[in-house]
Amino acid sequence: MDEILMGKQQLQGEMRKYWRQRHNLFTKYDNGCLMTRELWFSVTPELISERMAEIIQQEYDLELGENTSVLDMFCGGGGDSISFLKRGWRVLACDNNETHLNCTRHNAQIYGVDRHLETFLVDWTGSESAEYKLFHSMISIKKVDFVFGSPPWGGPTYKNNTTFSAERDLLPFPLHKLLQLSLEFSNKVALFLPRNIAVNELVSVSEDIFPGAEVDLRVVHLSLSGYSKGVLALWTVHGGVNV
Ligand SMILES: C[S@@+](CC[C@H](N)C(=O)[O-])C[C@H]1O[C@@H](n2cnc3c(N)ncnc32)[C@H](O)[C@@H]1O
Repeated sequence: MDEILMGKQQLQGEMRKYWRQRHNLFTKYDNGCLMTRELWFSVTPELISERMAEIIQQEYDLELGENTSVLDMFCGGGGDSISFLKRGWRVLACDNNETHLNCTRHNAQIYGVDRHLETFLVDWTGSESAEYKLFHSMISIKKVDFVFGSPPWGGPTYKNNTTFSAERDLLPFPLHKLLQLSLEFSNKVALFLPRNIAVNELVSVSEDIFPGAEVDLRVVHLSLSGYSKGVLALWTVHGGVNV
């Protein structure tokens, strides 16, 4: 189990700078939100996740309330899941880290939105395992209106590269694999990606993996207090070709 790091005195050295960001990550941080070392630099700031939920709702024409369901592939500390839950949506929140799933459940309780939250311990790289096959069959019988993914960007050093390649730098696998996997659950996929992402690569990967399909791809840059925080890429896969 990863260590929970909640208090200022627990954040040592390099990690100290994240303390000042705590209310940007969770406005209810002082109510006892749980974090791990990785989550301090991974949770989506609340205003960004709220804006992403709004954009996704418009783009995919989704209803508010429990008739809408999202599969959050990498729920982390629940930053994005909580914004979806606030819209009344059902959230199937996945992560391969048990501590992060506990953080998501606990943090959603703090926001009073855990009623429609289900969590799943799943490693997306283990698609050949019996556990994954069981998980896949469980999710396949559920309604998933869209898949959301905020995959790991490789830690804070992602900023050092001039360009972030979704095929080379994304974890736990390249973009084409992530999209193929997501499409097993829904034809609507929204990914939160680094601000320095190579957008032309998003287009070329889409063309490669959806031959013969009509694909809408929309890319939205998101900023907070004048600083770019990342990019939301939204795919909708229909039937002919038009990327
Ligand atoms: C960027 S964080 C997500 C943060 C989340 N959106 C939030 O706002 O709290 C990425 C998450 O992916 C999880 N993860 C990494 N590799 C994974 C894998 N192979 N399968 C499932 N989850 C994985 C990590 O444990 C981490 O919680």
